[in-house]
Amino acid sequence: MAIADPVSTATDTLKVYRHYIDGRSVAPAGDRYYETFDPFVAKPWAMVAQGDARDVERAVQAAHRAFNEGPWPRLTASQRGALLLRLADLIGPESRRLAEIEVRDNGKLLAEMAAQTAYMANWYRYYGGLADKIEGAVIPTDKADTFNFTRHEPLGVIAAIVPWNSPLLLSAWKLAPALAAGNTVVIKPSEYTSASILEFMRLIEAAGFPPGVVNVVTGFGPEVGAPLAEHPLVAKIAFTGSDRTGQLIYQSAARGLKRVSMELGGKSPNIVFDDAEIDNAVKGVISGIFAATGQTCIAGSRLLVQRSIHDDFVKRLVAFARTAKMGNPMDAGTQVGPVTNLAQYRKILEYIDIAKGEGAIAVLGGGKATRPECGSGWFVEPTIFVGVKNAMRIAQEEVFGPVLAVIPFDDDEHAIAIANDVQFGLAAGVWTQDMRRALNMSTRLRAGTVWVNTYRAVSYLSPFGGYKRSGLGRENGQDMIREYLQTKSVWISTAAEVPNPFVMR
Ligand code: NAI
Ligand code: MG
Repeated sequence: MAIADPVSTATDTLKVYRHYIDGRSVAPAGDRYYETFDPFVAKPWAMVAQGDARDVERAVQAAHRAFNEGPWPRLTASQRGALLLRLADLIGPESRRLAEIEVRDNGKLLAEMAAQTAYMANWYRYYGGLADKIEGAVIPTDKADTFNFTRHEPLGVIAAIVPWNSPLLLSAWKLAPALAAGNTVVIKPSEYTSASILEFMRLIEAAGFPPGVVNVVTGFGPEVGAPLAEHPLVAKIAFTGSDRTGQLIYQSAARGLKRVSMELGGKSPNIVFDDAEIDNAVKGVISGIFAATGQTCIAGSRLLVQRSIHDDFVKRLVAFARTAKMGNPMDAGTQVGPVTNLAQYRKILEYIDIAKGEGAIAVLGGGKATRPECGSGWFVEPTIFVGVKNAMRIAQEEVFGPVLAVIPFDDDEHAIAIANDVQFGLAAGVWTQDMRRALNMSTRLRAGTVWVNTYRAVSYLSPFGGYKRSGLGRENGQDMIREYLQTKSVWISTAAEVPNPFVMR
């Protein structure tokens, strides 16, 4: 059975995607499928298996078997690394096709997604290289005639629960270190964007990963994500998504005493001082909020701008943002695409109404986009609100859309006070030419990533994650493979004779 078979429905020819379990395409136990939509035309383009606890059970059992039996646990670390390197090589030629599938599902720009799927190969290459460089230690023991050493061992079955904004990339952040460390994985993609990860399983197969090492169960959060997080054979849950779902998963992990790592979004401040290179800052603020139609966890959704330049800066921002071309995300000329799903579209429009109700003033956009090039798609106009107070909901809650809240500040102290007065702490941007100021800000900002005179830089080489309600743990970089390992201490006696246990020494 292929990963996706075309079937004809009454209206159209839609592809059908099934689960991927134990190296095979598997029909859902309940034989139910749901429609997945293309947000540019607001129409379904494929059917996806609507899994339930029975499918989860099957996938976790397959992953558990593959962890304990068969070729996977017998591979040397170098052999595991070689599989990951092979996978990395297979991604390049397929990256554009995978990107097109993601764009059809989430409406992000093809230009961005093609670059992202190609760049994603770096995670597999980097952690593939790291696989055989994880070394334990020989501990200088304080006990006579003993030898003590440590080994770093995999955890077991990892549940990777991922969102819709960057389905393949955010899976790679979890899959690459998990596999390099020797774990097996069950992926639960977002119900809105499951196709690309299923297609990616062809590359997992071609690279030579044994059946059961990577599995995918599709469907909805409560029906698939919840039983997966709850499953007693799952050792760790790696999650990216909303803080509300993160909380549910954390509760479930607490019951099972499981490890978690989670990245839960933000309300990141982009802080512009009056000594900044203004043209650069304008571009940085625009890319911070309007790239990916604002649907990124790192969106710079609060612009903090020094009062002395506030009016001029806003004027330039609005002028630049007005030039954004909206339309078909597959077209190279499009700069702002649709919103991924109807629920998100409604949520963004609701936040725009909330902001207006709170007294914020839209100096750009402020509603749905009705430009002809947007057709029937789920488009929201790039929106900029001034007159925002940091206590307003529009300044405190994650919108996950192209909506910028502008807040003036007086000096460094004031900027820090506003920037940190939020529940989240994923990222922050600082625009200044004063290096002393930049360094001080980078120290005092309560965020997992701080960018100075740039925004959005993220790499496989550098740790990424949130302070406060933006998450737990980190992803990316060398040390983060430890999130998928546990340490065993081995004691060996070199004594010829075991001493009498009733005689205290
Ligand atoms: P979500 O957090 O509900 O979904 C993320 C993943 O968790 C999906 O695969 C979903 O099926 C799964 N899930 C949902 N309920 C679950 C449960 N009870 N147990 C286990 N897994 C569960 O996010 P959603 O509904 O797609 O988007 C809602 C909001 O979340 C957005 O408006 C945005 O504010 C935020 N978000 C943040 C992201 C980030 O990158 N930090 C990514 C996507 C959304
Ligand atoms: Mg979709």
